Amino acid sequence: MSHQQLIDMTRNLIAHGEADTMEYADDVLRVPASAYTDPEQFEREKKRIFRRLPLMVAPSCELPNPGDYKAMNICGVPLLLTRQKDGSVTAFLNMCTHRGNPVASSGTGNASRFTCGYHGWTFKNDGDLIGVASPKDFGAIDKASHCLTRFPVYENAGLIWATLDPDSTLDIAEYLCGYDELLKAFGFDGWHLFSTRELSGPNWKTAYDGYLDFYHLPVLHKDTFGADFYNRANFFEFGPHQRLSTPSKFAIKVSSDDGEQLDLTTMADDELPYEALVQGVWTIFPHISIASFYGGGQRGALISQLFPGETVGESITTQFYVMENEPKDDESVKAAHEQFDFLKVVVRDEDYATGKRQHEALQSGLLEEVLFGRNERGGQVFHQWIDKLTKADDAELAAIFAAEQRVAAE
Ligand code: FES
Ligand SMILES: [Fe+2]
Repeated sequence: MSHQQLIDMTRNLIAHGEADTMEYADDVLRVPASAYTDPEQFEREKKRIFRRLPLMVAPSCELPNPGDYKAMNICGVPLLLTRQKDGSVTAFLNMCTHRGNPVASSGTGNASRFTCGYHGWTFKNDGDLIGVASPKDFGAIDKASHCLTRFPVYENAGLIWATLDPDSTLDIAEYLCGYDELLKAFGFDGWHLFSTRELSGPNWKTAYDGYLDFYHLPVLHKDTFGADFYNRANFFEFGPHQRLSTPSKFAIKVSSDDGEQLDLTTMADDELPYEALVQGVWTIFPHISIASFYGGGQRGALISQLFPGETVGESITTQFYVMENEPKDDESVKAAHEQFDFLKVVVRDEDYATGKRQHEALQSGLLEEVLFGRNERGGQVFHQWIDKLTKADDAELAAIFAAEQRVAAE
């Protein structure tokens, strides 16, 4: 089923490419400019989107081995991910049940237990409280009821999702609407994490708009990579998650430095190569974008993970550069670094620099609305989902994704 969906999308892109057409949204969408600048709206989004919906918190290859962990802070919530002996992943509220100090400092590492740095309580990496310091002096407590608080967690397609609400009843697989099965086409399971970095950006939606937008490629990116790029994309929706790709009868062969083109029109379904099946940008609502690259002699992908920052005008992006295999010799390591550095320059100096200027101008409050054209359906769909989900209460939220799941199954 899911492989057939990949082929269907590719056929759609080839047909539109041959006919020199694209798919349009019904109308131009108007979004109030205040959606990007209103601090109250920003707080609502942190609460109702980031602290309530499943988030892709790490690629699996960031925690490949038993005992590996990652601690991070998302919109004020301290999160601890740990990989168990049986290979499964667990997600916890990174707060000691004594008085709330985070048991692990931000970053990654390997540990079978965590000793809190404040008074020395110790937790196993499965969350169990195994040691209370000076227990006789402290007084009797039931250890079993003072384990680390668990968050719902889900791993598939080489990616890890967690919901930062311990009481959430939203099924993460249901939320993904089958999209995670399609993401398996990348084959991230078993890939290697080559490097990561953080970039500061503008308002998180301003930044995210750019990932859903091919309209800007030949203009904003004319001096780096975009001069010859088409500014058209077709959008494929899976609930709120969207893949966008240029209608074209060609695919660029990723396993070649010279940008060799593959003509797809003459290929049978089972001959369609990896490049064609995954090309374009794959976004995972509300904050992830994935795109394929080639550098250091092999397949790689940039996974961009975006979070709201301290204020409405700020965001933080972690760029993960993942590779099919670890580059071994100096030359391929250098080539992979060059590819990754190029992506920093493009995003920081072109996309986010523009987003910051755009945000500053919008803060004037003198523009009522911003527009998303019929050719910018990705941005339209994104803002419509933000609107719908920030307005939905918890019961409605579950119903929305149950309905989406039914649509995906048909
Ligand atoms: S807060 Fe962790 S041991 Fe006291
Ligand atoms: Fe861009």
